[in-house]
Amino acid sequence: MKIIRTVKELRDAVSTLKSEGKSVGLVPTMGALHDGHISLVEQARTGNDAVVVSVFVNPTQFNNPDDLRTYPRTEEADCRRLEDAGVDIAFIPSVEEMYPEPDTRVFDLGPVAAVMEGAMRPGHFNGVAQVVSRLFAMVNPDRAYFGEKDFQQIAVIRRMVELEKFPIEIVACPIKRESDGLALSSRNVRLSARQREVSPNIHRVLKESVAEKASGATLEEVKRNVIDKINAFPEMEVEYYEIVNAADMQPVAEWGDCKEAVGCITVYLGDVRLIDNIKY
Ligand code: PAF
Repeated sequence: MKIIRTVKELRDAVSTLKSEGKSVGLVPTMGALHDGHISLVEQARTGNDAVVVSVFVNPTQFNNPDDLRTYPRTEEADCRRLEDAGVDIAFIPSVEEMYPEPDTRVFDLGPVAAVMEGAMRPGHFNGVAQVVSRLFAMVNPDRAYFGEKDFQQIAVIRRMVELEKFPIEIVACPIKRESDGLALSSRNVRLSARQREVSPNIHRVLKESVAEKASGATLEEVKRNVIDKINAFPEMEVEYYEIVNAADMQPVAEWGDCKEAVGCITVYLGDVRLIDNIKY
């Protein structure tokens, strides 16, 4: 595996792969890699001749300076995992390399970015669009891989791809979970023992809500129950729980209002913010 830190070297290495007729899959990450990231790499390996993984904690997508400061950084361990997973190129740039000038672009991301994470974290999705569009322009991959834990992020990236007319296939990959149901996240390492113990209840409650829907509960009832059951744990506080149309991220009022509904949740455990979702 090549570890590359400059854009010039990255472009050269990718153009060598392409001149050999190889297809390229890109997995953008912010490091602190876990099995969820490795499952994206595995899908990228299956679908492409070569795989590039970027490891970059992107400052422009953090609207909370403390979150940026405390975001876990584990470069050595990340490189070992990527090497073991058969990655061809690990791109690990500095902030100056990624942003030699401040990125002042404002993307017209539309309604998919206006709700949920977009409403709670102003500027977050614009920052994601900035960094991902840069990575896409540098690597020009055939396909790029994103995890469905960040369900709304995938919709936003598809919108950015449409705006920028990138000829890149966006591949959505299923959520990876611990055996007790907690969705894998780089932020999980920041949970205390007690917070970690109660955290699987997020997925448990979401799964129960699918059963409630099947036995006839209205969308409003399901929503209320999810919020109440999770807030009943003193260690957890729901920031939002929205049931949205999977196609456009807009909240729905009744089950019949869309073909596929997704429940998206954000929960605070102390100052650790976890997100998860479930399909109905
Ligand atoms: O999902 C993430 O880890 C980040 O938002 C991404 C897509 C790597 C952009 O920084």
